[in-house]
Amino acid sequence: MKTVIRASAPAKVNLVFEVGAIQADGYHPVNSLFLGLNLREELTLVAGEPGSGISIYVHGDTLPERHIQAVPTDETNLVYKVAEALAEHHGLVTPDLQLDIHKRIPVAGGMAGGSSDAAAMLVALNEFFFQEHGISKLATAELAQLGAALGSDIPFCLYGGLAIGTNRGEQIQELPDLEFETHWLLCISSQGLSTPLVFHRFDELDSLHDFSNLSALQIHSAKELASFMANDLEPAAVSLMPELAELRLKLEELGALKAMVSGSGPTVAALFESSDRCVEVARLLNSEGIFALTSTGPSAGARLEG
Ligand code: C5P
Repeated sequence: MKTVIRASAPAKVNLVFEVGAIQADGYHPVNSLFLGLNLREELTLVAGEPGSGISIYVHGDTLPERHIQAVPTDETNLVYKVAEALAEHHGLVTPDLQLDIHKRIPVAGGMAGGSSDAAAMLVALNEFFFQEHGISKLATAELAQLGAALGSDIPFCLYGGLAIGTNRGEQIQELPDLEFETHWLLCISSQGLSTPLVFHRFDELDSLHDFSNLSALQIHSAKELASFMANDLEPAAVSLMPELAELRLKLEELGALKAMVSGSGPTVAALFESSDRCVEVARLLNSEGIFALTSTGPSAGARLEG
């Protein structure tokens, strides 16, 4: 019987996203409060025939087709890079694998879609090497270190929950989970925004400030959370896509406690106090042709699924 392993990993929103001045390596130091959302990518890994290489199949039934079409199925996909990196770490050749990605997180939406796939792949392949080769499983911190070299959001997708991310966003400090469920409406733009381009515009806008002490924040309710949500990349994302500003305002007029561009955008994430209102507004926007999804947080990090 062929080995079959399933894993899932969450989407993220940056509740707070503070960005510093660009460094010599081209990256920006960040100070971020991440929340995992129950919009989970699911990855199925099946042992391939010897010599077949890695094949990647992507599907989904909740996102517009362009999000499925946009995912590369060759060696540029992060899950392929994870396979190469983890195999190399163990001194193995890259294994032959069939990978199936059930996509729920929008592509190029600032919600860590590709990083979530990579995190699910790290957990699945860690298990595969254990089952197939008897190799001791790496701990989450070791997987995070491998993942960080491939994408800044991959470590958070491994940990999930509520966490602070510093340096490039890949240094994770886990926080106790929120004591309450949060309700999110996610407005997905019909076009993506490139993360490097948004950071570049941020440099041009030159709006630096000191980082706050995120570990001191007290978050006992959605209202409290809304009062300090902020994203330093939002002005940059809005200047590249001005319609995002209108959408934010519209969401707050419709009852969101706070609406904000998520990460580098262009997804706008709106926090609602009530689940019912959140679903109602999603229906209203969808009827107006604006693609909107609902989700909740927190959500656990990448894990094996039965
Ligand atoms: O690490 P990741 O692949 O997600 O980053 C994509 C791009 O986003 C980087 O090449 C860089 O241009 C920009 N970036 C940045 N500072 C960060 C994270 C990303 O400038 N902390």
